[in-house]
Amino acid sequence: MNSVVNLSIAGKSPVGEISFIDLKAQQQRIRPAIEKRLNKVLDHGRYIAGPEIDELEEQLAERTGATTVIACASGTAALIIPLLARGVGPGDAVFAPAFTYNATANAILLAGATPVFVDIDPNTFNIDPADLERRIAAVRAEGKLKPRAVIPVDLFGSPADYRTITAIAAREELFLLSDGAQSFGGELDGQEVGALAPATASSFFPGKALGAYGDAGAIFSRNSLDKERWASIRWHGTDETRKESVRVGFNGRMDSFQAAVLLEKLSIFDEERAARRRIAAEYDARLSEVAKPQAHIAGAQSGCAYYSLCVDNRDQMVARLKKLGIPTAIYYTTPLHLMPAFADYAPVNGLPVTEQTASEIFSLPMHPYLTPDQVDFICEAVVESAAPAD
Ligand SMILES: Cc1ncc(COP(=O)(O)O)c(C=O)c1O
Repeated sequence: MNSVVNLSIAGKSPVGEISFIDLKAQQQRIRPAIEKRLNKVLDHGRYIAGPEIDELEEQLAERTGATTVIACASGTAALIIPLLARGVGPGDAVFAPAFTYNATANAILLAGATPVFVDIDPNTFNIDPADLERRIAAVRAEGKLKPRAVIPVDLFGSPADYRTITAIAAREELFLLSDGAQSFGGELDGQEVGALAPATASSFFPGKALGAYGDAGAIFSRNSLDKERWASIRWHGTDETRKESVRVGFNGRMDSFQAAVLLEKLSIFDEERAARRRIAAEYDARLSEVAKPQAHIAGAQSGCAYYSLCVDNRDQMVARLKKLGIPTAIYYTTPLHLMPAFADYAPVNGLPVTEQTASEIFSLPMHPYLTPDQVDFICEAVVESAAPAD
């Protein structure tokens, strides 16, 4: 989901320039406060492990209800660290969807384990618990790999079906690691992402709903699982002296500048999330007749990082919208099992729902600074573009 191109695509339309994601408008709003925080880092000079890191971890824990938060270098680091801490590695099967960003599978393979791809639900686009059960049973029957972990992805910000997956993980004795890289601000049954699974990895890549000005991420735990190990692996596997290596680790730290930016952005996050949700609700209401917007499981609210929908004439629709000055993006044209790096792990019969969804899906502009006129213009354009070409 890290497309540098997409952060800058914007189109000229009769309702002004429409950005797919607008980081400029947000920066204009909070720039003096961000500069103040960055200047503080320049003054104290603790570029690594400055006081901003502790403050950010505390604030993230408080707002999500997680008991432990470990700030780290990226969403990828936040996925790898919990796998290493649990000793997930060679000979272990880790179940994950193939309809996700490549980092999910990279993390599994970098830990030395084997990804087992699971199909998605056609409406939520998230991992299908029924297919998860089938694939766990198949791995057990084959007897070559040991089922060890499951990584549901909260695609576009919408929480996966944690109620069902938690029960499956408990029964099958799997480590449940949520890939919440896209879902900071999502909720399920009134609980925030970060407290929905024993471990959650989040990304603060600039284009995410909560984004830094560089790479950053965090690991959340709702029960302090592996807290010391996570902190140690993040710092080259050292003990509290930060000198003696007690396990294998790497440089998985977040720097103080990124924490400073995130602290300031957190102060407007609720307001921005409400604006995103208002826009998503309007898209839902006006586009459901002509398209299939992402559905959310009962009790879930998306963090609305991205707004994605399926249509029969996707490529034609995207071309028409582009002509009208409406930027779009396609997440994901190619599911992971069809990419060269992961082809060895492609299921024999493919992943039918994943492949069908990849051919129909696209994302509309989504950010809190879209004006009502722009949202109106986008909705009208989608409805008109849904009509077959003359
Ligand atoms: C689903 C998913 N997982 C993991 C990542 C990795 O996050 P990062 O780029 O911060 O390493 C991303 C980033 O886009 C993502 O979308």
